[in-house]
Amino acid sequence: MKQRFIEAENKYRTKVSQDPWRLSYHLMPMVGWLNDPNGLCQFQGTYHIFYQYSPEDANGGSKGWGHYSTKDFLHFIQEENALFPDSEIDKDGAYSGSAFVDQEHIHFFYTGNIKFEGDFDYINKGRGHYLNYFSSCDGLHFSEKECLLKNENYPQNMSCHVRDPKVYQEDEQYYLVMGARTQESVGCLLIYKSQDLKNWHYHRTLTTKEKFGYMWECPDLFKLEDQLILITCPQGVQQDGYQYENIYQNGYFMIDGTLEDNCRFSNFVELDYGFDFYAPQTFEDESGRRIMIGWMGLPDIPYTNPTVDNSWQHALTLPRELTIKNGHIFQYPIQETEQLRIKHYSKHLTPNETYDYQTHICQLHLVLQQQSFEVKLRKDVTLKYAQQLFTLSLKESGYGRDERHVEIGNVQSIDIYSDSSSLEIFINDGEKVLTTRVYDSKEDTRIEASCEMSLDIYVMKGYQIKKRK
Ligand code: FRU
Repeated sequence: MKQRFIEAENKYRTKVSQDPWRLSYHLMPMVGWLNDPNGLCQFQGTYHIFYQYSPEDANGGSKGWGHYSTKDFLHFIQEENALFPDSEIDKDGAYSGSAFVDQEHIHFFYTGNIKFEGDFDYINKGRGHYLNYFSSCDGLHFSEKECLLKNENYPQNMSCHVRDPKVYQEDEQYYLVMGARTQESVGCLLIYKSQDLKNWHYHRTLTTKEKFGYMWECPDLFKLEDQLILITCPQGVQQDGYQYENIYQNGYFMIDGTLEDNCRFSNFVELDYGFDFYAPQTFEDESGRRIMIGWMGLPDIPYTNPTVDNSWQHALTLPRELTIKNGHIFQYPIQETEQLRIKHYSKHLTPNETYDYQTHICQLHLVLQQQSFEVKLRKDVTLKYAQQLFTLSLKESGYGRDERHVEIGNVQSIDIYSDSSSLEIFINDGEKVLTTRVYDSKEDTRIEASCEMSLDIYVMKGYQIKKRK
C-alpha cells in the first residue's frame, strides 16, 4: 500500500503542480484527494498535521493518513505518509482520528473501516468500525497498529457507524468520544473511560433531547475557558431558514454539567456558514491556544471542484484560534498568519469606486460605513449585507455554488483571507465565518462597494513546503 501511494504520487505530481488553482498558503494533498484533518498536536515544539489522504483518486478512494509538520506555520515539512489501509483492522480505510500527547509519546486513535463481503447495507450490517491505536515518541516513527475496540464493544443498539475517536482528559480521568448512529438512525456521542489510554470501558451515550440528525461525525470534546464544548458534524439535519444550508452540518454545543452527571446541551451553533467547511478538529498547543483546522471541503456536494481534472481535490483551512466572547466561539487565523504578509496598502474608496488589488494571494480588511451594503470582488463574488442578513454569492466561478447566508446583528469589519482558489471570510474578528472555494482567473482582482469603504490590503507570501529527505 505504501508503494501504491508513492506510485500514485509519482504519476500525478507534475500534472497537479501545473494546476493554476493550487493554493499558496493552505495545505493541500500532493496529489489526489484530501479530507479531514487528523491527529493534530504539538509535540516537543513541533506541530503535526495529519489528514485523510487518498493519492490514487481525486474523487476519494482508499484512505490513509498524509502528514505535514511545522514549527512556525510558515515552513512545513511534507513528511512520509503515516498510515495506510493495509491490515486486517483497517483494510477499507484508515479513517479519521486524533492525537493525545503526554511527556514522552503521541498516542494516536483512529477508526479502522472494514467492509465484509456479502449482501449487506453497510449501515446496520457488514461493516467493522474499529477503534485502533498506535503511538510515536518522535512524531516520525510509529508503533504497530493495535485494535482496542470492535463493534461488539459498542452498545447493542448501535449501527455499524461508530467512528472518529478523540480523547479528552479531566484530572486523572481519560475519556474517549466517538460519533455514532444508532440502529434507529439517531446521531449521538459514545463516551468511553480509561486510566491508561489502552483499556477503554463504555461510560455513556449522549445526545440531544430531540433527534438532531442520523449520524454525528468527527466529535471533539474540550474545555475552553472552563466551558465544556462539543464540536461535531451531524448528518441528516434539515435546512431551517438560513440555518443548515449545506448537505452536512458543522458546529458546536456548549455542555452544562459534567460527564459523570447531568449533561445539558445548548442549542447547536454553526461554526462556518460557507460552502466548503467540514470535519474540523481542535488541539491545545504548548502555549495553551485552542487551535482548529477544518477540511476546506465537504462530501457528497452538489457543486464541483475543477481541480479534479488536474488530479487533486480539497485543502485544509487556515489554522484558527478559538476564543469565547459573549458566550459564543469566535475563530480567527492564528497570529503566525500575519508573518505571511509581505506588503501593505491602505485605500479609502468612495461608493462604487473600483480598485484593483492585483493579486488573489492576500488578506483584505474591510470597514464599511453603512449597515447595508454590497461588495463585489474577484470575477463574480458578491458579499451583501441588509436587514441583518449577510449573503455570500458566487456565480460561474463557484462551479455550482450559489448563495450562503448568515444572520448577524451588525457588521463592523470583514477580513477576507483570499488564496488562488479559496476565500475565508471572518466577520467582526471571527464572530461569524464563511469558507468557500472559488475558481476564477488570476486577473480578476478588483473590488468595489456600494458605500464608502476603507480597505487594507496585505499581500501574502506562500507557505514554504519541503519534502523530508
Ligand atoms: C468525515 C468522515 C469521517 C470518517 C472520514 C473518512 O468527513 O466521513 O467520519 O472517519 O471522513 O475519510
